Amino acid sequence: MKQVLVTGGAGYIGTHTCVELLARGYTPVVVDNFVNSSPAALDRVRRLTNHELRSYEADVRDTARITEILKKHDCEAVIHFAGLKAVGDSVARPLDYYSANVIGTHSLLSAMMEAGTGRFVFSSSATVYGEPEFLPYTESHRLSPTNPYGQTKLSVELMLKDLVESGGMTDVAILRYFNPIGAHASGEIGEDPHGVPNNLMPFVAQVAVGRRPALNVFGNDYDTPDGTGVRDYLHVVDLARAHVLALERFEREPGAITVNLGTGHGTSVLELVSAFEAASGRKVPINFGPRRCGDIAAFWADPSQAEALLGWRAEYGLADMCRDQWAWQSQNPNGFELA
Ligand code: NAD
Ligand code: UD1
Repeated sequence: MKQVLVTGGAGYIGTHTCVELLARGYTPVVVDNFVNSSPAALDRVRRLTNHELRSYEADVRDTARITEILKKHDCEAVIHFAGLKAVGDSVARPLDYYSANVIGTHSLLSAMMEAGTGRFVFSSSATVYGEPEFLPYTESHRLSPTNPYGQTKLSVELMLKDLVESGGMTDVAILRYFNPIGAHASGEIGEDPHGVPNNLMPFVAQVAVGRRPALNVFGNDYDTPDGTGVRDYLHVVDLARAHVLALERFEREPGAITVNLGTGHGTSVLELVSAFEAASGRKVPINFGPRRCGDIAAFWADPSQAEALLGWRAEYGLADMCRDQWAWQSQNPNGFELA
C-alpha cells in the first residue's frame, strides 16, 4: 500500500494524476479546499477508476490537520498541486497568492517534517523562466518570472533547494510544466475553469460548444511564423504520468531533481484553433485583438532532462489533445456541477 497525499487533488491536473496513480498501484489520499474545484470531480475519478478514493476538505495552510492526515494514512510521499494559478489575478491580489502558494507550501513541508514524510513532488511552471534568453528553455535557463504567480513558484523552488541543502529532505522533484491541455480520453474528467477562461484551450473549447461567440486572439504581429503566440502544449495525461515516474524514481535513485515537462514543440494559436476545428468538426470563429499585457511571443521546452532522469517523454500529439478536450467539453458543456 503506497499511500500518497495529493494536495489539490480535485483540480485539473490532480484528478488526472489520481487516475494514473491508481492505475500504477498507488493509493492517493486527496486534500483540497475546493477553492477552484468541486467534490464532484473526485466522484468522477471514483466512477472512472472503480476505486475508493479518500478525500479531505482541508487547507494546506492548516499544518496540524495535514500532519494528522499524513500520519493517519502513513503517507510515503506528497504530490503538491494545491495553489492559485491565474496570472492576472495574482497581479491584482498578490498577498493571496503568496499565502496560498508560499505559506501553503511552507505549512505542508512543516507537516511532512512532523509526520516523517520524506518525498515531495512539486508543481512548478515554465513561468519561472520569464523572457527567453534562448529557446528551447533548458532547466539551467535564467529564472526571472515577470508576475507574482511566477514569483511564488520560484520562491517555493528556492525554499525546496535550501531544504535539500540543509539535509532536511532528500527526495524532491520540481516539475516545471509547460502548457497542459486536453482531458482523460473517457471525457469523464477535464478542466473546469470558473468564469471566463484565462487560458487558450478552455476558451477555444467553450467557443466550439457554443458557450462563447468567438475567440479573441491576443496579437497577430509577433515575430512567429503566423504572427500569433507559440506555446508548448502537452497532454494532461502525459503530464500526470510524469508524477508517477517521479515517485518511481525516488525508489530507484533518491535525490533532488528539476525537470521541464513539455513536448519540445511549439504550436501557434492559429495552429491550435485549426487542430481543434478538425477534431471537433466545429467552427471556431476568431477576432484578432491586441497583445495581452505580459505575454511572451514564443516559448517551448527542452524536455531531454525528463527523459534522462524519469524515462518520460510526451506520447500524445496535438490531435489527441484536441480530441480528448472535445470529448470532455462536448459531454460536459457546463463542467462538473451542471453536467
Ligand atoms: P487547479 O486550480 O485545477 O487545481 C488546484 C487545486 O488546488 C484546486 O482543486 C483548488 O481547489 C486547490 N487548492 C487551492 N488552494 C488550496 C489550499 N490552500 N489548500 C487546499 N487546496 C487548495 O489547477 P491545476 O491546473 O490542476 O494546477 C495544479 C498545480 O499546477 C498548481 O499549483 C498550478 O500552479 C500548477 N501549474 C498549472 C499549470 C496549468 O496550466 N494548469 C501550469 C503550470 C503549473
Ligand atoms: C499562461 C500564464 C502562465 C501559466 C500558463 C499555464 C499568463 C500571462 N501566463 O500562460 O504563467 O504558466 O498560462 O497555466 O497568463 N491566447 C489568446 N486568446 C485567449 C487566451 C490565450 O490568443 O483567449 C493566446 C495567448 O496570447 C498565448 C497563447 O494563447 O499566446 C496561450 O495562452 P495561455 O493558454 O493563457 O497560456 P500562457 O500564455 O502560456
